[in-house]
Amino acid sequence: KIKVLAISGSLRQKSSNTALLKATIGLAPENMVFTMYNGLGELPHFNPDLDVEDGPASVKELREQLKEADGVLICTPEYGNGVPGTLKNALDWIVSSGEFVNKPTAVISASPSPMGGNLAHASLLLTLQMINAEIVENGKVIIPHITLKLNQEGVITDSETRQELHALLQGLEQACSR
Ligand code: FNR
Repeated sequence: KIKVLAISGSLRQKSSNTALLKATIGLAPENMVFTMYNGLGELPHFNPDLDVEDGPASVKELREQLKEADGVLICTPEYGNGVPGTLKNALDWIVSSGEFVNKPTAVISASPSPMGGNLAHASLLLTLQMINAEIVENGKVIIPHITLKLNQEGVITDSETRQELHALLQGLEQACSR
């Protein structure tokens, strides 16, 4: 089976990005198994002084989970025209340790706005490039007007969005199978 680590960039209880991430996972073929990373809120602020052997356990845990995953799926909102600080903070911990190198990765941003969090999406890609993640084919999806496309039950009601997510999953599956 293909193991994918799923990361939501939102800590919000009723996050549309977390709901969308779960809905996307629901579209995946059976040979893909997903683990939701739930440590984003517990990671310490990145500080190179703490990045030492026997550093923070939560950082070790993140690195372990990334190492064990064949691929990564990120779904994030945009805050202040950028990547949420918590998500950027997590990636900052990975710059030195390298778990993202050649890791098949797909990136979704979703927003109630007509732009779909495009600036966070672009900024996240810059960081992922820097840490040498492999962005998979069809693995860049921006979803505007998310509130109109995902219902209260967490079902994606927009067929174009579903198609884009299917293609993203296919790209991720193929890259992880190589
Ligand atoms: C936002 N939101 C937002 N949206 C956007 O497209 N670009 C932005 O720069 C921002 N900035 C921003 C700042 C703050 C302080 C808040 C509270 C919100 C709106 C954001 O996309 C919306 O709240 C989403 O619902 C957040 O994602 P989750 O938590 O639903 O996944």
